[in-house]
Amino acid sequence: MQLLDIRNLTIELDTPHGRFVALEKFSLRINEGEIHGLVGESGSGKSLLAKAIVGITDRRMHVKADRLNWRGHNMLTMTSSERRQLMANEIAMIFQEASACLDPTARIGSQLLEAMPVPAGTPWWRRGSAKRKRAVQLLHKVGVKEHNRLLESYPWELTESQAHKVMLAMALSHQPKLIIADEPTTGLETAAQAQIFRLLEKMNQLNKVAILFISHDLHSVGRWSDKLTVLYCGHIMETGPSKKVLLQSRHPYTQALQQGSLSSQLILPKKADMPALRGAVPLLQALPVGCRLGPRCPYAEKQCVKTPELRNDNDHWVRCHFPLEESL
Ligand SMILES: Nc1ncnc2c1ncn2[C@@H]1O[C@H](COP(=O)(O)OP(=O)(O)O)[C@@H](O)[C@H]1O
Ligand code: SF4
Ligand SMILES: [Mg+2]
Repeated sequence: MQLLDIRNLTIELDTPHGRFVALEKFSLRINEGEIHGLVGESGSGKSLLAKAIVGITDRRMHVKADRLNWRGHNMLTMTSSERRQLMANEIAMIFQEASACLDPTARIGSQLLEAMPVPAGTPWWRRGSAKRKRAVQLLHKVGVKEHNRLLESYPWELTESQAHKVMLAMALSHQPKLIIADEPTTGLETAAQAQIFRLLEKMNQLNKVAILFISHDLHSVGRWSDKLTVLYCGHIMETGPSKKVLLQSRHPYTQALQQGSLSSQLILPKKADMPALRGAVPLLQALPVGCRLGPRCPYAEKQCVKTPELRNDNDHWVRCHFPLEESL
């Protein structure tokens, strides 16, 4: 069953230098139980997309799309209360800096209980105890053993990994159909990262929760996602089933991400080393004409001053005038 269906979503941003396109004609479909990885360097537009999906926009952000549907319903025409209802019950978001999303003045217990729905069929006089029981169950589910101590703590007394677990427990309390996890492991130690991956994987397998996993690390996401989208400067560069994008990557940017990644647990095909990409991600107000990777791409040619279209080859989409040869 299809959950999220985005077609040609564009985000423009008002900045002191004028209005700029930060994400252009972005399309994505996520089905029930599917894990979709969204990968790209910092500044590619990943968090803006996540915010546009959950509706956390400010006056500077202008979002338009040919389609932004949730389970067949048009999110663009929903009232703000319908949208909030949807976000409270069906879509959960986990932010990169989990501790910053918690209220520093309130104990975790009260924040968790407040965020949780009342278990169905509970009489009003038992609501408090029913919620607490459910909170403890959820904390155990996300791997917290000392639940009493954690419930009594303030956010600043938690490690970042514990704060992530609290966010996950909050997210799970509504039994969401989709979790959007925006770099939930960035800045965590390897063991804590692995734990978050395991938790999300468990939720996906046990509850068929779909996950949009946002990261700058292609390998760590690619290993367990069904599909991958590689984003650069607001353009999809390559997208398709993870196996194809990882093992038969055809875009110079995807290959550069692969070779720059620190993870070595995935067996990669033999490829000649790609020359490193020059420079850094350009500023929004100084995007290059034509292919956005052009000034950094070792394979750039004259033709690259024209923006390449995304081309489909058997469900494997690539935006490049000179796609690299498949090596398998
Ligand atoms: N509120 C904002 N005002 C102005 N520019 C922004 C704002 N939010 C993001 N940007 C710019 O939009 C681009 C994409 O940002 P973001 O989605 O946060 O990237 P990512 O999450 O991939 O690192 C960046 O160039 C960033 O500087
Ligand atoms: S279109 Fe040209 S500049 Fe862009 S990635 Fe392909 S070869 Fe490089
Ligand atoms: Mg981000």
